[in-house]
Amino acid sequence: MTEPKAFIRQAVEQLRKEVPGRVIVAASGGIDSTAAALLTERALGDRARAVFVDTGLLRAGEAERVGNLFRASALAYRKVEASERFLAVLRGIREPERKRKRIGAEFVRLFEEEAAEFGTDRLVQGTIAPDWIESGGALRDTIKTHHNVGGIPKTSRLVLVEPLRDLYKDEVRAVARELGIPEADRQPFPGPGLAVRVHGAVDRDRLRRARVANAVVEEEVERAVAAKEMGPPWQYFAVLLDAKTVGVTGDNRVHGEAVSVRIVNSVDAMTATASEVPSAVLARIARRITRELPGEVVRVLYDVTDKPPATIEWE
Ligand code: XMP
Repeated sequence: MTEPKAFIRQAVEQLRKEVPGRVIVAASGGIDSTAAALLTERALGDRARAVFVDTGLLRAGEAERVGNLFRASALAYRKVEASERFLAVLRGIREPERKRKRIGAEFVRLFEEEAAEFGTDRLVQGTIAPDWIESGGALRDTIKTHHNVGGIPKTSRLVLVEPLRDLYKDEVRAVARELGIPEADRQPFPGPGLAVRVHGAVDRDRLRRARVANAVVEEEVERAVAAKEMGPPWQYFAVLLDAKTVGVTGDNRVHGEAVSVRIVNSVDAMTATASEVPSAVLARIARRITRELPGEVVRVLYDVTDKPPATIEWE
């Protein structure tokens, strides 16, 4: 790719051409959308507003982290509390693509409202190349409909602006570092959030279990990396499985749930290999998850499958 400084210069020019008036930015706090947001601020100043949606599908501590990140920037920022809305559209939905479509449609409705409120029809998104390639935008079969692509129906008045659409993840990271985004090397997190890490039906309790298990995997892996027990993986998380399994707590047999731990190495998410993680680290993860969710999660598995044939996420 062009070198990050040159890319930023061109992207800023392009944004000025593409956006005559005001614009809102779909800001999830991830690297892609934060880079898109800061580019937009550079190009348009106070004609841009970042909108962060608390979907209730976020990781532990994420809403606070994103708030701090944007308050420290020059970009105007607004947080929308929408967890009830997202839970409502997901009720009873088990199939991964339907989850993504429902979430995408709710995002569109919400951003239409936000755009109208800010007096614009333009929406900046941090879509990057693998998002649309994997959504079937090129000559490939549709693998997954990433929520932020194809989710805008033709009837919507929103006009998409995608300054990063030709970049791959490693290129976005270089741009993010150049823009001064902290934790530009942070692992990716999918747009539909924990909804695709709750395998099967999504409800408040299952989301809470997935959130706790994800936090444990993140903390234990980061601690092991800091202690040089293992190298830094590309992505590491937990999935609450759609399976009931028997466990024991004290003298009682309980019918609980199971968690799969996924830790992979990759360059651009198009392919990945399951990481070789020291067994002591896996044991700490398993003990903590079952201890922090007693009787709720009674079994923890490690996923040893590469991509392909598996995908990185379970859904
Ligand atoms: P898969 O599971 O397709 O994931 O191997 C490749 C990378 O993309 C992330 N991912 C998503 N990101 N919306 C996103 O914004 C999605 O619907 C989505 N599904 C997967 C995944 O975390 C991995 O980094």
